[in-house]
Amino acid sequence: MVWKYLGRYWYFSFLSFRASYLFPLLLVQLHYILEDLEVRSPPTLTEQEYLKNKMADPWQESMDHAVVVARKAGAVIRDALQNEVKIMTKSSSVDLVTKTDQRVEKIIIESVKEKFPTHSFIGEESVSAGEPCILTDNPTWIVDPVDGTTNFVHGFPFVAVSIGFAVNKELEFGVVYSCLEDKMYTGRKGKGAFCDGERLQVSDQTDMRKTIIISELGSNRDPAVVSKIFSTMQKILCIPVHGIRGSGTAATNMCMVASGAVEAFFEIGIHCWDIAAGAVIVTEAGGVLMDVDGGPFDLMSRRMVSANNKTIAERIVKEIEIFPAERDDAPKKK
Ligand code: IPD
Repeated sequence: MVWKYLGRYWYFSFLSFRASYLFPLLLVQLHYILEDLEVRSPPTLTEQEYLKNKMADPWQESMDHAVVVARKAGAVIRDALQNEVKIMTKSSSVDLVTKTDQRVEKIIIESVKEKFPTHSFIGEESVSAGEPCILTDNPTWIVDPVDGTTNFVHGFPFVAVSIGFAVNKELEFGVVYSCLEDKMYTGRKGKGAFCDGERLQVSDQTDMRKTIIISELGSNRDPAVVSKIFSTMQKILCIPVHGIRGSGTAATNMCMVASGAVEAFFEIGIHCWDIAAGAVIVTEAGGVLMDVDGGPFDLMSRRMVSANNKTIAERIVKEIEIFPAERDDAPKKK
């Protein structure tokens, strides 16, 4: 211990001494420098070790790529915000899409296809363009290039790139890049959820009267539907809860649940690409997912309650006025 101390910190004060005193100290110093180097230098993996790691988590490489490509997509979105936004509409005058949505989805899909040519895709814009929206057993990337398009168009500062990944119809990982806040959320099945490397944990609140709940108004303007949405919100607000919020992006809403900022987020009318990534992030942060009728969560059903725990989720379910939303995987009408 003494030698270590002397070797590390007193070396320079001995410089003025005669060389015969200096030599043993130099050896001690050298010893600890080598010891430090050994500790600090990252272990280089042998090919065998690399393959072993890969086998231990066969989707790690895909997840790493999702993070890289989400960051790249986020940079394109930020850049596009400075330029003119070209708006088009999809199912109605309030269901918006921009050139950026389409460009970013192309960037993501091309980049993934190049690296993983056998994988499948469900992308919001590809589905709008007529691609099928069917989840098979094949490794599948479920992509919303710009989650929060209306926010993007109006400059409301929450926009996310959402990338979920499923194999055998089971979600394996999720990556949500909240690109205007520059926050990278990730969740890997069985390995936890993180935001910029910090582990996420849902709130431990079980008293509904002490919660903040997120819901969205969606893009359905059928008065009967709007009335059910408001009626549900009114009933929840009057429980009473501390508040009701909405960021305008389902993916970010789910990350809020995962990080404990709110207790729950529910919506009818969302799509699988809005929630696939967030679903992994919420559950890996300790939260739960269920259907709006209290049954099991179904990614393609367009209905979801995500919450910090079952008590809160079930309490919300009691108040939800359900309205029909056609499944994402429903056969296309001709
Ligand atoms: C929308 C957002 C919004 C939710 C809508 C989604 P988009 O996604 O996630 O929060 O209320 O249901 O469609 O269209 O901006 O990708």
